[in-house]
Amino acid sequence: MSYLDIARLKISYGEKTVLQDINLTVKKGEMIALLGPSGCGKTTLLNALCGFIPVQQGNITVAGRDITVSEPEKRNITMVFQSYALWPHLSVARNIGYGLKLRKWRRDDIKQRVEQLLQIVNLRGLGEAKITELSGGQRQRVALARALAIEPDVLVLDEPLSNLDAKVRLSVRHEIKQLQKKLGFTSVIVTHDQQEALVMADRVVVLNNGKIEQVGTPEDIYQRPATPFVADFMGAENHISVNEVTTSGSNAMHLDLADEYQPENFIYFRSTDVELFEKTQGKSPKGLIFEGIVEQSAFIGHHYRHSIRCHNHLFLADSPQCWAMNSTIKLQVPAAALHIFKTFHTP
Ligand SMILES: Nc1ncnc2c1ncn2[C@@H]1O[C@H](COP(=O)(O)OP(=O)(O)O)[C@@H](O)[C@H]1O
Ligand SMILES: [Mg+2]
Repeated sequence: MSYLDIARLKISYGEKTVLQDINLTVKKGEMIALLGPSGCGKTTLLNALCGFIPVQQGNITVAGRDITVSEPEKRNITMVFQSYALWPHLSVARNIGYGLKLRKWRRDDIKQRVEQLLQIVNLRGLGEAKITELSGGQRQRVALARALAIEPDVLVLDEPLSNLDAKVRLSVRHEIKQLQKKLGFTSVIVTHDQQEALVMADRVVVLNNGKIEQVGTPEDIYQRPATPFVADFMGAENHISVNEVTTSGSNAMHLDLADEYQPENFIYFRSTDVELFEKTQGKSPKGLIFEGIVEQSAFIGHHYRHSIRCHNHLFLADSPQCWAMNSTIKLQVPAAALHIFKTFHTP
């Protein structure tokens, strides 16, 4: 049974509709990542869940209770903000206990709960520290502890790792994930980072321009993108129409697929799925095979990324070896790595 249920949600700012026909069900204890480019409506959706902005159409239900028009403080949903939003003049302990004090908990109970949370988020002994004495990663853990203090039905996190250094980000994201598994809270986390979404979430929701493009497991989203937008957003940036391949006018472009496809279809694939060969070499597997001229190469750590021209297209292709500029080489993409769609996404 679903725990959080969002049905036919529509949200507008004045004339401008920002979210449309959002349908999503979340199971108890599940972690959902909302993934999408800047401005697609991620924060707006979280704000609607928390009751910070009104809903125009549709319903939000938590544990069978309709909260669509409930006051924010009556929802038992807490938000962790990108900016932490901590009280700088209060100690770590008083920040964490803030929501409990508002709920009129007894002082001793607050103290005990705060101790428990300091332990949970790995900040033991720092209860009396000032917020300004903490690193970014520690501050975000205080914000997380404060949000968890009241045992929310749903925890929502809005790009909680965006202000952290790359290295700290990696460790904090694992900490949050571990905590979620251990404590079993239900959560919706917003990110614009594909990898972060894949690593942290049980299921990923890809949003584009106020609409859901796809909901699925990380493997679904990455390996079986449902739309050209998802394919492109998840890194399958190379694309060409079937028509261009089959009418390229030379035998240098060749498409051989087991599945049915139409001339008006579009093919998407990742730079990491391209295999490069000398012009006269290569295997002949099912898939896409064509020739191109190397226009650029760059070492990006672990491998080289090449820009390769074929007719009026530039394709990106990765290889452990650096292929010579202006050389003509053969590109092969196995059939399993090709994503084929009826439409084309204009970035
Ligand atoms: N308070 C507001 N008033 C008017 N437009 C807004 C407001 N907040 C956000 N928007 C617009 O709504 C769209 C979605 O914004 P937002 O939910 O913040 O996107 P995201 O979090 O995915 O970057 C954007 O086009 C943004 O400009
Ligand atoms: Mg946002």
